[in-house]
Amino acid sequence: MTTRVRVAVLISGSGTNLQAIFDAQDAGTLAAEVALVISDRADAYGLQRTLRRDVPAAFLPLPRAPKAERAAVRAVWEDRMLALLNAYQPDIIVSAGFLRVLSGRFLETCGCPVINQHPALLPDGGGDTVTLADGRQIPALRGLGVVAQALALGLPVTGCTVHRVTPLVDDGPVLAHAEVPVLPGDTESTLHERIKMEERRLIVEVLQTFRQL
Ligand code: GRF
Repeated sequence: MTTRVRVAVLISGSGTNLQAIFDAQDAGTLAAEVALVISDRADAYGLQRTLRRDVPAAFLPLPRAPKAERAAVRAVWEDRMLALLNAYQPDIIVSAGFLRVLSGRFLETCGCPVINQHPALLPDGGGDTVTLADGRQIPALRGLGVVAQALALGLPVTGCTVHRVTPLVDDGPVLAHAEVPVLPGDTESTLHERIKMEERRLIVEVLQTFRQL
């Protein structure tokens, strides 16, 4: 009997990557079970996708706080998330469009690997540039707004990356990546949609190989 990998998914938005995991689970191409979904936003459509399937879902907002109290408030928020995760015992945590940075303490305490999807190419092992398959180099784009940045910089190619999460933002060992050409007339939304098509394929592929990660 194959044991199903228990996946916790962290989201902030529409959850099309989460849906790709659900779909692969339904199709029998992924021996995984989404055990828990956590969103930091109440209006994340991924929450609706989750509730429709009777999968446990939690809305865990990060409260606004004055600068002096922010670190303490964030630590309590992470503790609550850790307590929830502990209750559902995932084998892996997938940050799928989750727009929050997780602390080193969280990563050390959560008890399983955390992986992240990023809508740009990242170098394996850090650095400021990425070498494309054809040998050209492009800048590594980290943080938010990287699809718009790829367009603004006139990059010929961008892409997406699935990587292990480390305390450094959008860094950590690369598990999978895909290049996506920037086409004439692309807008942020057309380009991001093509990137997301690749992201949905990659996240399922990475989870399929999870036992070897
Ligand atoms: C993806 O492009 C992911 O890389 C980025 O946010 C998007 C999430 O999309 N961080 P969705 O919510 O899974 O549709």
